[in-house]
Amino acid sequence: MRRRTSRFLFCLAAVFLSASAPGTEAWLEKCFECHGPDGMGKADPMYPVIAGIPAAHIEEAIYAYIDGARQCIREPRMCETVTTLTESQVSAAAEYFSSRVREYNLEQYNAELAAKGAVLHERHCGACHLPPHDEDVAYAIGIPLHGQRPDYIRYAIRAYFGGKREPLLDTMAHEIQQLDGDDFDALVNYYSSYRAGD
Ligand code: HEC
Ligand code: HEC
Repeated sequence: MRRRTSRFLFCLAAVFLSASAPGTEAWLEKCFECHGPDGMGKADPMYPVIAGIPAAHIEEAIYAYIDGARQCIREPRMCETVTTLTESQVSAAAEYFSSRVREYNLEQYNAELAAKGAVLHERHCGACHLPPHDEDVAYAIGIPLHGQRPDYIRYAIRAYFGGKREPLLDTMAHEIQQLDGDDFDALVNYYSSYRAGD
C-alpha cells in the first residue's frame, strides 16, 4: 500500500513533463481489443473508458491490477494482459491512453436520481474526483468518474464497498462506507448525466 502511494505521488509530479505517444505495437493492440484504439471502451459495457485519464492514474491502476489490490473479477484477461508488461510498457501505455481525446458516450440517465447523486458527489467525492474537462484534473487526487461507463462505475463502487478492491486512500474507503445501495444508483446516474462542457 505504501509503495503504491509513493509511486503514485512520484508519477503525479513527473507526468506533466512527458507527452509523446508511441507507435502501435503488438502488445498495445491487445489493449485496443477491449478499450478501443481511442480508449473509449468497446462492446462489453464493463470495459471502462481510459481515454484522457491522467497518465499517473493509469499507471497506478495498472500496478494495482499487477499487485492484486484490484482484482479482475469480471474479466480475468485484463489482469492477465497487464501482468505481462514491462515497466516501460506500462509507462508507454499510460502516455498513449492519457493523450487520447476523451469523447462522450452520452449515457442515458434518470434526472431525479442524477440530481440526488450531484448532492452526494459534492458531499463525499467531489474533493478528489474532478470532471475530465476541469483544468485541474491532471492534479486531482482521484480518477475522473464523470462520463465513465455506468456499469463499470457501479461495479467499481460495489467492489470497494464490499472489500473486493483495495482503495489507495483510507479517506475514500471511509466516504464509500457512508453510502447505501440507493446512493450508488444516484451517483451512477449523476456521472452518466455529464456532458462535455458542463
Ligand atoms: C479482455 C479485455 C481487456 C484487455 C485485453 C485489457 N483490458 Fe484494461 N480493463 C478491462 C476491464 C474489464 C477493466 C476493469 C477491471 C476490473 O476492475 O475488474 C479494465 C481496467 C483497466 C484500467 C483501469 C481503468 C480505470 O478507470 O481505473 C486500465 C488503466 C486499463 N484497463 C488499461 C489496460 C491496458 C493498458 C491494457 C493493455 C496492456 C488493457 N487494459 C487490456 C478490460 C481489458
Ligand atoms: C480522498 C480522495 C478521494 C475521495 C474523497 C473519493 N475518492 Fe474515489 N478514488 C480516489 C483515488 C486516489 C482513486 C484511484 C485509486 C484507487 O483505486 O483507490 C479513486 C478511485 C475511485 C473509483 C475507481 C475509478 C476507476 O476508474 O476505476 C471509483 C468508482 C471511486 N473512486 C468512487 C468514489 C466515490 C463514489 C466517492 C465518494 C463516495 C469517492 N470515490 C471519494 C480518491 C478519492
